Amino acid sequence: MIYLDHNATTPLAPQAREAVIRALDQLGNPSSVHEPGRLARNLLDEARRQVAALVNVHARNVIFTSGGTEANNLVLRGVAARHGKGRILVSAVEHSAVLGPARDLAAAGFSVELLPVDEEGRVQPAAVAERLGPDVILVSVMAANNETGALQDVAEISRLVRAAGAVMHTDAAQYAGKLPLDFAATGAHLMSLSAHKLNGPKGIGAVITDGSIDLVPQISGGGQESGWRSGTENLPGITGFGAAAALALQELEERRLRLAALRDRLEAGLAARPGITIFSRGAERLPNTVQFALAGMTGETLQMGLDRLGIAVSTGSACHSQSTEPSHVLLAMGVAPEVARGAVRASLGLGNTESDVDALLAALDKVASVLPVGAAAW
Ligand SMILES: Cc1ncc(COP(=O)(O)O)c(C=O)c1O
Repeated sequence: MIYLDHNATTPLAPQAREAVIRALDQLGNPSSVHEPGRLARNLLDEARRQVAALVNVHARNVIFTSGGTEANNLVLRGVAARHGKGRILVSAVEHSAVLGPARDLAAAGFSVELLPVDEEGRVQPAAVAERLGPDVILVSVMAANNETGALQDVAEISRLVRAAGAVMHTDAAQYAGKLPLDFAATGAHLMSLSAHKLNGPKGIGAVITDGSIDLVPQISGGGQESGWRSGTENLPGITGFGAAAALALQELEERRLRLAALRDRLEAGLAARPGITIFSRGAERLPNTVQFALAGMTGETLQMGLDRLGIAVSTGSACHSQSTEPSHVLLAMGVAPEVARGAVRASLGLGNTESDVDALLAALDKVASVLPVGAAAW
């Protein structure tokens, strides 16, 4: 099987596996003051420093959560609960881990507005500026989109949001580990990360905070994670995250160049074939992601055909649903529903090679060959 679905999840790095296993055998509770507790605390502190280094912050600015979904929920619900009322702006192309809590907050009486995107999937800072006002409490715009890979101008949007006195959040689950990420340079107050998108274990993530935001914790108890997220820490997950973050930081440039070269090879191959649309091609994107459609074929049919030929890609944002609705990301970009229904995403990762890319292109030709003559034109 050739795995080309790294935006859904990535294989665990050997270094991360070792760190997980070491921590599984660590007896102590990091909150205990005796020696086993102190040893567990040391592992926790070391991992916190490693995750902090990936985004160039101090370790105290890292709050561990059970993943990117909890990180986003903590930020949206926690900031909303602190304010009690107000307007919340989220981009129309956010992951469901932002859109879900945003929807819940709308049902609870907050005014939630979707920020539109252009045809490449970018939030225009002017569209944010237009909607900002004294009653806006929170703005959430992702750093990179999980489907198209399109990057947002988070720094400029943060500047506007800060000037308006609102809280800026960015979901960087897909960005971290693929491109250099300096938290301070994003200008955001809060940022979400997820370990399993960067060769760490599943079920662990973090909120990065600049230290200036006061939110209402969504899980209360023993006051761990500076009171933001109670519960005995998931030490194996956290140490695995730390090891994966350290490795990602060390290999960042090499990975970026390697993935971009593979992505370019894939796109050149796609562009040379009839009936293929590549989405967000005009935007700055993650180096590993290509979302495309083959005219005349649904994304599900294409994905299943490739699966039968031993190639794993996904339709839409398949890391979370079996939905056959066209992607909300593509619809927000103004893509026609019948075109959006054809979308599949190939997302490359560390183990992939040129021959994997060539195998995808060859498999695509095989799957496309069942289309009636002339079908591969809109
Ligand atoms: C952009 C984005 N945010 C959040 C998440 C959720 O992260 P997790 O799977 O760690 O809950 C994902 C992936 O599923 C994602 O792609």
